Amino acid sequence: MQGVARNFFTLAIIYSLCGMALGIHMAISQDHGQMPTHAHTMVAGWLMSAVFAFFYHLFPAVAHKRLAAIHFWLTAISGIGLLIGLYILLAGNPAIEPLLGISSLAFYAGMLLFAFIALPAIWRS
Ligand code: HEM
Ligand code: HEM
Repeated sequence: MQGVARNFFTLAIIYSLCGMALGIHMAISQDHGQMPTHAHTMVAGWLMSAVFAFFYHLFPAVAHKRLAAIHFWLTAISGIGLLIGLYILLAGNPAIEPLLGISSLAFYAGMLLFAFIALPAIWRS
C-alpha cells in the first residue's frame, strides 16, 4: 500500500484508536454524552477511511491522480474538523456550530468528489 491509499489507512488507524479510547472512557465513566462523537469517529472515520484506502489500493491508476490527493486532504481536514467540533459542541459549547456546519459541507463535498473519482473508474474496469 502506498500514496493516497496508505495515507487513508494511517488516518483510519488514528481514528480507530481515538474513537475506541473515547468509547472506553464513555463506558468507564457511564457518561454516554459523547456517543455521537464516538459513533462518527468509528464509522465516518475508521470505516470510511479504510474503505477509501482499499479503493485506492485496488485502483492505483486513479490513486496517482491529483484529484485523489485533493480528496484525501479535503476528507481528512473536514473530518477532523467535524469530529473535534462535535466533541466541543457536546461538551456544552454551542458557539462551535459554524465550524461544524462548514466541516459537514466540506465532508459532503469530499464524498461528491469521491463519487466523481470512483464511479468512472469502476465502470471503466
Ligand atoms: C473499545 C471498543 C468500544 C467501546 C468501549 C465502545 C463503547 C461504546 C459506548 C459506551 C456506546 C454508547 C452506547 C449507548 O449509549 O447506547 C457506543 C456506541 C456506538 N459505538 Fe462503540 N465502542 C467500541 C467500539 C466500537 C467500534 C469498533 C465501532 C464501529 C466500528 C463502534 C461503533 C459505535 C456506534 C455506531 C455507536 C452508536 C450506536 C447507536 O446509535 O445506538 N464502537 N460504543
Ligand atoms: C456530513 C456529515 C454528517 C453529518 C452532519 C451527520 C449528522 C448526524 C446527526 C445529526 C445524527 C443524529 C445524532 C443524534 O440523534 O444524536 C447522526 C447519527 C448517526 N450518523 Fe451521521 N452525520 C454525518 C455523516 C455520517 C457518516 C458518513 C456516517 C457513516 C459512515 C454516519 C453515521 C451515523 C450513525 C451510525 C449515527 C447514529 C449514531 C448516533 O446517534 O450518533 N454519519 N449523524
